[in-house]
Amino acid sequence: MDIIKHIAIIMDGNGRWAERRGLLRTFGHNEGVNSLRCTLEHAGKLGIKYLTVFAFSTENWKRSTEEVNALMKLFKLYLKNEEKNLMEKNVKFLVSGSKIGVPEDLLERIEHLKKVTANNTGIVFNVAFNYGGRSEIIDAVNLILKENRENIENTKKEITEEEFSKYLYNDLPYPELLIRTSGEFRISNFLLWQIAYSEIYICDTLWPDFSEKDLDDAIASYNQRDRRFGGI
Ligand code: IPE
Ligand code: IPE
Ligand code: MG
Repeated sequence: MDIIKHIAIIMDGNGRWAERRGLLRTFGHNEGVNSLRCTLEHAGKLGIKYLTVFAFSTENWKRSTEEVNALMKLFKLYLKNEEKNLMEKNVKFLVSGSKIGVPEDLLERIEHLKKVTANNTGIVFNVAFNYGGRSEIIDAVNLILKENRENIENTKKEITEEEFSKYLYNDLPYPELLIRTSGEFRISNFLLWQIAYSEIYICDTLWPDFSEKDLDDAIASYNQRDRRFGGI
């Protein structure tokens, strides 16, 4: 069994967590930040090299203005408040996603946190924000087309899978394990290219209740899998 280097998580179920308590959905998002902090720390201790989490999808703009604004505000607060913690834990911070539609001050904070953590050598923490798997692929294709326009002497006629992956938002090793919380059996436009051969683990736990034990269970399940990659 391959050792897990990269875990990707669809952090789902914040809204239901809050609704079940008669609270506004945004309480669930606030609470989800604690699970995230705890999961990142635990993954780091387990020696996982990369953690990618789905925080906001290109489709999540369809939600109410109040909820979208609350999510933007929460991420901004996270970027501001977590700097010290990420530095202490030696975490390298990255974001995968489109910049289109993201408020300027948020983009600035993202750049700042990426810059200050760039030389950290611990776990790479990649937040998928304003992320869509299809947009990521289309953005990569458009980058290649742009390069071709700007370099007419030496245009690309063909491209390999390996070359293509260099044009994705972040060129990280593909996740061995994909976790989705809250019992939904779908991908919701997450990492379409990268999860071609990921092992999928779905648990009923709602994201705000996700604990170290849930992460351990997911890894234990992964360790039981027989990964064949099309072979026998
Ligand atoms: C996941 O929780 C967080 C985001 C999508 C931002 P949801 O907000 O989707 O929670 P549910 O699925 O409605 O319970
Ligand atoms: C996926 O969850 C996006 C994030 C976790 C950020 P959604 O709750 O948006 O997905 P659907 O709507 O259930 O497919
Ligand atoms: Mg959801």
